[in-house]
Amino acid sequence: MKIKTLLISLILLPFSLFAKEGIWLPYLLQQLNEPEMKEMGMRISASDIYDINKTSIKDAIVQFGGGCTGEVVSDQGLLLTNHHCGYGSIQRHSSLAHDYLTNGFWSNSMEEELPNPGLTVTFLVRMEDVTKQIIAGVKKEMTEAERNKIILQNSDRIAQAAIKGTHYEARVRPFYYGNQYILMISETFRDIRLVGAPPSNIGKFGGDTDNWMWPRHTGDFSIFRIYADKNGNPADYAKTNIPYKPKYSLPISLKGVNKGDFTFVFGYPGRTQEYIPSQAVQLQAEIRNPVSIKLRDTRLNIMNEFQKQDPLVRIQYAAKNAGIANGWKKMIGESKGIKRLNGVTKKQEYEKQFTDWVNATPQNKEQYGKLLPVFADIYAEMTPLSLASAYFTEGIVGSEAVSYADGYAKLVTLCQNKEAKPEEISKLIESYKRGSQSFFKDYYQPIDKKIFANLIKTVVKDMDSKYLPPVLAELAKKYKDDYQSMADKLFEQSFFTSQEKVTALLNDFKQKDYRKIIKDPLFNIAFESRASLETKGSERLKILQIQLDSLQRIYMKAQIEMQPDKRFYPDANSTLRVAYGKVDDYKPADGIRYQYFTTLDGIMEKENPDVYDYVVEKKLKHLYKTKDFGPYADKDGSLHVGFIASNHTTGGNSGSPVLDADGNLLGLNFDRNWEGTMSDLMYDPDQCRNITLDIRYCLFIIDKFAGAKRLINEMKMVQ
Ligand code: ARG
Ligand code: ASP
Repeated sequence: MKIKTLLISLILLPFSLFAKEGIWLPYLLQQLNEPEMKEMGMRISASDIYDINKTSIKDAIVQFGGGCTGEVVSDQGLLLTNHHCGYGSIQRHSSLAHDYLTNGFWSNSMEEELPNPGLTVTFLVRMEDVTKQIIAGVKKEMTEAERNKIILQNSDRIAQAAIKGTHYEARVRPFYYGNQYILMISETFRDIRLVGAPPSNIGKFGGDTDNWMWPRHTGDFSIFRIYADKNGNPADYAKTNIPYKPKYSLPISLKGVNKGDFTFVFGYPGRTQEYIPSQAVQLQAEIRNPVSIKLRDTRLNIMNEFQKQDPLVRIQYAAKNAGIANGWKKMIGESKGIKRLNGVTKKQEYEKQFTDWVNATPQNKEQYGKLLPVFADIYAEMTPLSLASAYFTEGIVGSEAVSYADGYAKLVTLCQNKEAKPEEISKLIESYKRGSQSFFKDYYQPIDKKIFANLIKTVVKDMDSKYLPPVLAELAKKYKDDYQSMADKLFEQSFFTSQEKVTALLNDFKQKDYRKIIKDPLFNIAFESRASLETKGSERLKILQIQLDSLQRIYMKAQIEMQPDKRFYPDANSTLRVAYGKVDDYKPADGIRYQYFTTLDGIMEKENPDVYDYVVEKKLKHLYKTKDFGPYADKDGSLHVGFIASNHTTGGNSGSPVLDADGNLLGLNFDRNWEGTMSDLMYDPDQCRNITLDIRYCLFIIDKFAGAKRLINEMKMVQ
């Protein structure tokens, strides 16, 4: 791909045209973005953000727990991320006796900071374009499988060579759908301790009602600390580990923001698909999302109903509910946004232009002439298969017990193998025993049974009969469409609905006992449904997906050739990126304009002691009444809680630092506005905003609300 030509043409462009959209590669900022960033107000240089020869801001940024971002804010490894990113860890330390989720958690000293086995944070050491080495040996006439094999071999070799003799990790990642390959060297820390978290009615204020929406008043932060061994290297948890001394930690700005201020977001966006064809957008927004939304509706209604009645159940299902609700609401917003944007039509118009461009020269015609027609064929074949797979993942294995039972397929396969070694089996059994404990700690059978009954009912009723797994059709017939009785009976018969039954199964497990699992009704549902879908198409789906990968690579290359003056950013793929924009308000609908910031007044306006999501703690009310905001008040005298800006972000950017023109921390990114949730498929600079927790509200809570001065004293503030 012609990155070079791309680079040269960019520099000649009028910048304002392209402001806002884009999630850019840190190592290319200097060439691609620095002039524009400076024009927009940035005062530092690209090399202050990312540099491999000196300390730069990137040395304070981590990928947190695999799915979020965090940033180091003290020279003792203190880390900030979102409350919803630390949520699982906070929940695991919570019980009825110590309900940190509800009441918050504040350690008073380093000794009280709580370890979180399994939680890691990863720093990027460097990234490097290795495209030439990776595609060495790849030939045009190769099949996709042959191509992939060579690329995999080259990637492994290069990655291994790059970290020889170090404790780093290396991975080669494809960009622009495999038109470019970049080597990522990283360093992962494994002793990460929980330092503090606000109560949920601050950290999750507004709950799922306000989620994905602006105006917002959520104090969405939690605090962790990185620990290392005596030499400052990553180590497993040990009492003797010491706080990690980072290469860099972010200074914090207490100045707040004004409309039009330059900001940038530095973090780990997960996935965007900005360059896919119209059919793909349609499949997601109009076909798959509605089905997933409906099935999630069922699950959420039932969980909510039970969670309201029992405080223990509320804790057990808090994280699961939040996860399902988050995706559910995102899909609703995304489908609405695509509709409002006329997204599918826009893509079709773009495809017309593309076709004209292809037809303009014989050479293009020969190279790209078949591209769009083949896309159309593949998506036509794929759409019903993809829909069936949505019914499987969101419906059939949407019950916890069925999905849990499904996890025993590995044991069955191993036991069916006559040559399996007894040690192998007993090792696997041990891991199932451990897994069963964490599964049943948060399992409440009445919820799951009701969910199962309702999901299976919907699947049987709604799913195209051509794809409906026979096992479900037979059950429906046997129970005469009485799904509640079906659930009662199958849950009683199954091993996988209680800890006692699973323990009984696993204790003294013999190789031939896999037959008991095969006969289990819930295991059977998962197993038979998968097998049926496989014969009817999910195998085919995989093949189509591989064809799409290769087509998409060519389509990407062609799109870049068609628009030599356009600057293309690679779709997000959970690698470190920079997005930049300006603090800005927006107009969500006719007659309404949303201001760019919110304040504590809004929390008081939303207060409702009867609604869980809008309870305000006495202490916070008191601070509000006495206006005890300390140095965290805005110059207008109020306490600002959140602000929005036009930075292009996506899932995974949660917890990312939002930085000012000088590289100081302004706040924590945690969400997007409802009107802009289609940005993963199509970005609209007019409507898309990222939502940031104002760092001053975060510090106010730590300092004035929690009295955790020891943490404030570690941080470096700039006035
Ligand atoms: N929507 C945000 C993101 O995608 C925040 C989710 C957590 N909050 C919640 N109420 N579930 O992660
Ligand atoms: N809330 C999202 C996250 O967890 C951010 C987003 O999708 O805008 O990463």
